[in-house]
Amino acid sequence: MKKIIIANWKDNLVATKSLTLAQKYKTIKICDCLKAVVCPDFSAISSVASIFKKTALQLGAQNCSALPIGAHTGEVSVEILKSLGVKYVIVGHSERRACGESDEVVSQKASKVLAAKMLPVVCVGETALERRSGNTLLTLERQIRGALGKLPKNLKSARIILAYEPVWEIGSGKMLAASEAEETCLIIKNFAKKCGALKVEVIFGGSINKNNSQEYLNKKNIDGLLVGGASLDFKNFSQIVNC
Ligand code: PGA
Repeated sequence: MKKIIIANWKDNLVATKSLTLAQKYKTIKICDCLKAVVCPDFSAISSVASIFKKTALQLGAQNCSALPIGAHTGEVSVEILKSLGVKYVIVGHSERRACGESDEVVSQKASKVLAAKMLPVVCVGETALERRSGNTLLTLERQIRGALGKLPKNLKSARIILAYEPVWEIGSGKMLAASEAEETCLIIKNFAKKCGALKVEVIFGGSINKNNSQEYLNKKNIDGLLVGGASLDFKNFSQIVNC
């Protein structure tokens, strides 16, 4: 199975810059062993989608509403995302959890994404404090059980991506050794199986760039990468996907 590289542009680019970067991405060469997904901000999804037409690049979103399409001011439902061509939706990113998103809301969002036959990318990861106090695995287990435990049985058999991003790694340049990252990805997969999820892939993220990506991608039990800052730099990202 191809490993997956997901670019998360976050809220970094004004409209013109998203379009310029998307035009550059259009020329990207993706290694046969990889798939590439790009998650622009909501406002850019539609125009980026038309730029990516007839390319191998797939579209993702950085978040979605936990509510169905309807009168919910400021929300963006999975129905709307699907209609724009979105296939992957990041849920529970640590930057959203830091704004108060609970495990329960993450679970509702994952359930909406799966019911719409799209792929959730459920983010989990410990903070620096949780790691220091020896609670990394407890945190991961709580987040995974919270996100997947209550999913209806029929949705648990669908493909689900979990993204392991230690919070202290994000944007910091600090990283877990690839062997420890792999070991933890495997533990995460087993937690997810215990929750009844049958087809789980576990990707890794936090400070990934062209210089370190290969080391993590070479690990058998790391199914791909989630890339933030380095995905804003076309040359950097293109080297990650054209390995
Ligand atoms: P980073 O972000 O690559 O800039 O550390 C990763 C993420 O937050 O998904």
